[in-house]
Amino acid sequence: MQKRTLGSDLTISAIGLGCMGMSEFYGPRDDSESLRVLARAVELGIDFFDTADMYGPHHNEELIGRFLASHKPKARIATKFGIVRNPGEYQRSLDSSARYAQQACEASLRRLGIEQIDLYYVHRVNPDIPIEETMEGLAQLVQDGKIAHIGLCEVSADTLRRAHAVHPVTAVQTEYSLWTRDVEQAVLPTCQELGIGFVPYSPLGRGFLTGRFQATEDFEEGDFRSNLPRFSEQAMVTNRRIAEVISDMAALKECTPAQLSLAWLLSKGGNIVPIPGTKRLRYLEENAAAASITLTADEQQQLEAATACLPVLGERYTPEGMKGVNA
Ligand SMILES: NC(=O)c1ccc[n+]([C@@H]2O[C@H](COP(=O)([O-])OP(=O)(O)OC[C@H]3O[C@@H](n4cnc5c(N)ncnc54)[C@H](OP(=O)(O)O)[C@@H]3O)[C@@H](O)[C@H]2O)c1
Repeated sequence: MQKRTLGSDLTISAIGLGCMGMSEFYGPRDDSESLRVLARAVELGIDFFDTADMYGPHHNEELIGRFLASHKPKARIATKFGIVRNPGEYQRSLDSSARYAQQACEASLRRLGIEQIDLYYVHRVNPDIPIEETMEGLAQLVQDGKIAHIGLCEVSADTLRRAHAVHPVTAVQTEYSLWTRDVEQAVLPTCQELGIGFVPYSPLGRGFLTGRFQATEDFEEGDFRSNLPRFSEQAMVTNRRIAEVISDMAALKECTPAQLSLAWLLSKGGNIVPIPGTKRLRYLEENAAAASITLTADEQQQLEAATACLPVLGERYTPEGMKGVNA
């Protein structure tokens, strides 16, 4: 697997692994299978694992911790703090204060069983807390050796600039895919200008762009996606068109829709490292193979022209969730 560098010096596999679904949100979990997926990812050259304290909470970090303890892989771990949730509840609050960062970091280090987090993200910025205060707290964690690099999720270009002026930001993690391209307006160009890496989350549109989910009944009971406006029954009827176009173009390229979606993201900049999420070996292998698919400039343009003209119905989060994005 080729490597890419986020910021000035975080060199990792060109495609990482999103681990969230191994704990919750996308149907039932199976720890034994998830541990096999993690081990296979390392065999395939993937060395960038994405988790957060609120996944599970805190099952996902504990699962990664078990994997790290048993396999001792040479892997970089990215985790996040700032969304405060109690186990079993979706109700949440945002705390991006320096004091909470310190406390959350200690807890994540303990669950992961490591001495340093490679990339520590603010999961959501609380607008009532100045980003400068958060960054000063994170800079202290860097100085103390608890974290190696700082990342921010779902921030606006303005917040990113203010944060980067306090301490270098290594990566921004925000949703980005063929059906969610808002970051191209300001955030991505700002990352490119300032030498900051970009990590697209939900690069397969939470699975929708693969064509696997055609209607709400395709989700198992309790699947988080059923609550999202973009996945309502009516929205899915309209939105299916984009998955069909990707599928048609993938057939021409002799790859799968998931691979085409990932190859497109990789073609959008050398500072981009997508983190497709899966808990299945088959999808992991398919997604990893996308790192060796190159799109020509013509293919990139055709794909963009064919998808950008299609309407995408529904916001990506509920009104409450949308309050935390572009903060
Ligand atoms: N910063 C944030 O706010 C934020 C928000 C969301 C996610 N994330 C991070 O980003 C990671 C990726 O996001 P995501 O999990 O939503 O990404 P995604 O890759 O867009 O979607 C994952 C879904 O697609 C399915 N899938 C994966 N590969 C497939 C393939 N080749 N063919 C068919 N289906 C496939 C998965 O199925 P299975 O589950 O059945 O394997 C899962 O249902 C997460 O794991 C998490 O670490 C961050």
